Amino acid sequence: MAFPTETVYGLGANAEDPAAVSRIFAAKGRPPSHPLIVHIGGAEQLDDWAAEVPETARLLAESFWPGPLALVLRRGPRVPFETTGGLETVAVRVPDHPVALALLAAFGGGVAAPSANRFGSVSPTTAGHVRAELGDAVDFVLDGGPCQVGVESTIVDVTGDVPAVLRPGGVTREDLEAVLGMSLAVPETSHVRVPGQHPSHYAPNARVVLVEPEKIVVEAEHAQEQGHRVGVFLPPELGGEPIDVHAVVRVPDSMPAYARGLYGFLRELDEQGCDLIIASLPVEAGLGLAIANRLRRAAGPRD
Ligand code: TXA
Ligand code: MG
Repeated sequence: MAFPTETVYGLGANAEDPAAVSRIFAAKGRPPSHPLIVHIGGAEQLDDWAAEVPETARLLAESFWPGPLALVLRRGPRVPFETTGGLETVAVRVPDHPVALALLAAFGGGVAAPSANRFGSVSPTTAGHVRAELGDAVDFVLDGGPCQVGVESTIVDVTGDVPAVLRPGGVTREDLEAVLGMSLAVPETSHVRVPGQHPSHYAPNARVVLVEPEKIVVEAEHAQEQGHRVGVFLPPELGGEPIDVHAVVRVPDSMPAYARGLYGFLRELDEQGCDLIIASLPVEAGLGLAIANRLRRAAGPRD
């Protein structure tokens, strides 16, 4: 069953049922060693899922839930290893979407859910994207409209002495730092490795190449002349620039709008038959950090 959250659509199953959870891995084509996030209906349920809840976790939960933040904690006994990919820790979050919250309230338990896309591809931000990705592999899709955040949750590991950001996402580093009163390392600047984060991930069919913004037009037109069907993510500062390529996406000026649109833009250029997407990285602050992280992974080496 697929359902909407504020970040992306999730493919959900009872987090306590190993057989149900294994169906998620089958539908996604995802290796079973990749841990899932357990979605719960409220912060008061945190102790049902984690063996130990440090003060930092309570503070973050209180500040950002419901919202795009997943906390990694020590696994409580009711979480099967199928859900955690064999780890002794579990990721938990309370999604900020009325349909997701209604589902969790009606169910009462925890729903393990990865993004509802095939392994390695672009996450779905509409019910239509889920159908296009998973087809009959999913029995039904709850349609809650387009996701408002558009990139996945920020994952923070609170099991160590210092909280560690494992994946930048919908809650910004700046917001976390303001609440915690300390500066945080993020994956691009630290060597923290998230299990299940492959270099090539969030990738459309077209190859993605990242260039400096001032080189976009020249590089894109050159590749088009070489016979590629080029799609361009045209940054706002180049908005008026004429460009002769197969397809153009105008990148929104505001970071929330860019994050909301990002995965849809990648899908759009695939649908228009582009074989090469040329983009540049936004400034890596606020939501720009998560956007840049996804673009780098989309451009990462493929198997
Ligand atoms: O916004 C989101 O988080 C969406 C929606 C559906 O909630 N879900 C999502 O799930 O992005 P998924 O499976 O695509 O990504 C989950 C990430 C993976 O990179 C996984 O490695 C990490 O969470 N993760 C899960 N449990 C973990 C754990 N115990 N320790 C470290 N990382 C963990
Ligand atoms: Mg995913």
